[in-house]
Amino acid sequence: MSETIHPVTQAALAITRTTAEQYQAAHARSLADPDGFWRDQIGRLDWYRAPTVMGNWSWDPVDIKWFEDGVINASWNCLDRWAEADHTRTAIIWEADDPKAKTRRLSYAELRDEVTRMANALVALGVDKGDRVTIYMPMIPEAAMAMLACARIGAVHSVVFGGFSAESLAGRIEDAQSRFIITADEGRRGGKPIPLKAIADEACDKAEAAGVNVEAMLVIRHTGGAISMVEDRDHWWHEIRAEVPATCTPEPMNAEDPLFILYTSGSTGKPKGVLHSTAGYLLWANLTFETVFDYRAGEIFWCTADVGWVTGHSYIVYGPLSAGATVLMFEGVPSWPANDRFWQVIDKHKVNIFYTAPTALRAIMRDGDEPVNRHDLSSLRLLGTVGEPINPEAWNWYHRVVGKGQLPIVDTWWQTETGGALITPLPGATPLKAGSASWPFFGIEPALVEADGSLIAWTPGTEISGNLVLLRSWPGQARTVFGDHERFTQTYFTAYRGRYFTGDGARRDADGYWWITGRVDDVINVSGHRMGTAEVESALVAHPDVAEAAVVGFPHDIKGQGIYAYVTLNAGVEASDALAAALKATVRAEIGGIAVPDHIHLTPALPKTRSGKIMRRILRKIAENEFGALGDTSTLADPTVVDALIEGRLNR
Ligand code: WT7
Repeated sequence: MSETIHPVTQAALAITRTTAEQYQAAHARSLADPDGFWRDQIGRLDWYRAPTVMGNWSWDPVDIKWFEDGVINASWNCLDRWAEADHTRTAIIWEADDPKAKTRRLSYAELRDEVTRMANALVALGVDKGDRVTIYMPMIPEAAMAMLACARIGAVHSVVFGGFSAESLAGRIEDAQSRFIITADEGRRGGKPIPLKAIADEACDKAEAAGVNVEAMLVIRHTGGAISMVEDRDHWWHEIRAEVPATCTPEPMNAEDPLFILYTSGSTGKPKGVLHSTAGYLLWANLTFETVFDYRAGEIFWCTADVGWVTGHSYIVYGPLSAGATVLMFEGVPSWPANDRFWQVIDKHKVNIFYTAPTALRAIMRDGDEPVNRHDLSSLRLLGTVGEPINPEAWNWYHRVVGKGQLPIVDTWWQTETGGALITPLPGATPLKAGSASWPFFGIEPALVEADGSLIAWTPGTEISGNLVLLRSWPGQARTVFGDHERFTQTYFTAYRGRYFTGDGARRDADGYWWITGRVDDVINVSGHRMGTAEVESALVAHPDVAEAAVVGFPHDIKGQGIYAYVTLNAGVEASDALAAALKATVRAEIGGIAVPDHIHLTPALPKTRSGKIMRRILRKIAENEFGALGDTSTLADPTVVDALIEGRLNR
């Protein structure tokens, strides 16, 4: 197999371990000579045919291609090439939810052999190139295997986070027209089982009612919990594994063939299936992984995200494995069996690079320094954060207590749509500022615009703020929304025509550092999870007693933002605590636990303009307890509604 991989010389890998001056020179070159810059990077990957064309893209109309004449297979790059070079090298170290359970270690050779068998199992079940395969899994190595098995045969995976409800899972199966599911009997988190197979069964029924028939389900036995198997549809992995061949030739894929779909929330409608390409995505994941985390062979890298989110895709699976790294995969949660679990795991496995979310740090910080200091963290060399702005207090605690005042912290700003980090420090090169994502990565040209789209000029020594846009494409950029290119164009390229709008606000300080201030659209960021307020509203109105719902975010000490829901009830329905609890249960069933509102404010009326538009600005202020700054309320149809709402807020 290896001889069919086109040997491209390894070039210009030296941009890792840069100084600030080298970073600036390389960044300037990446903008001035993008073809030259990217031509130097393609040797990071093995290709069947190396690309001759680098970026070939337009944002008006939207048509994005990178490396379009390249031919490649992602699973080869993440498995075989490392297994062949060093068959004992560890790919995955798995730490179970239960600290007493046995650690699993998979070498690159073992992981490849499992992936090739699973790929053959998928083929045996009828999966073809281009088919969408839904993956609904706990955090076990088989989740990574499932993704890579799809990549091996050219199937498109759609991983759905294991915390989503049957309803949400069904919606994603339907949207992707996915006829195949890979799941496990149960997951386990914080000592509790999660009935994944039972939820998947329910989702299949719902999808079938909507016209999408799931033909085959591959089930991994993990906890051994009791489940029911549907004859002819469901297959145990351990049974089929014994029957299929152990080798599987990777499918040569065009660079622009889709690698995966990942659903994410926006300000309107249902979640979108963000589609990533094969080569551009993989190269971005690989380059950012090695550079941002300054990864050195043999080190142990731990990203605490779930593979159900893009962070898990890029920095548990595709980035690290394409770089031959050793990743730690953790099934559990930071708070169980005790609040020192992260530090116990770092100590146990001698983790070198640790990447987590600000919300986890804020939750842990509450208990002081002792749970951290109880463990030997001397293996750590680098820390990172992702998912939401990190407040300087949490940054300083992370730096002082976890990093002993010594370790750099990379605060990486990016999105599901960007494939990997875009604004981030490079360790060693970037002088850090607590709370700033600092500088753009290679090939990235951010800018700030006014609401009307005019560019805000920045000169050294001045400070500006505005809406964050990007002025040029990069290889890891999402290519479309699955099945709805028009929605892709509308969502990202229409507010500021010809530019990519991130949905975030930002400022740029006098030194040129970028500070992300949070979403400026109707998206809220709850514990680093992205949630559309419209989605939560439509879940609430699914309850028969609800007339109308308006959902806003509010500042939350641990979660970053909490969810505050204003709800009006149908005529004749009495407000009660029991009803508020029932509404929370409805949201849990419609979306999942992560979307359940912190507060449900049952109110007789919502503040509306005379034309009937809900004034969310006022609702946000009331949720924030900022009653003095409500702004102009003169356009309200009934200004007394505001007094009633404030009354309701004060009473809680
Ligand atoms: C939104 C994207 C990036 C993968 C995980 C989240 C916010 C993300 C940062 C950061 C400030 C951040 C933004 C962004 N965000 N990282 N370092 N500093 N904000 O991916 O679910 O697509 O969410 O997360 O608001 O738009 P996502």
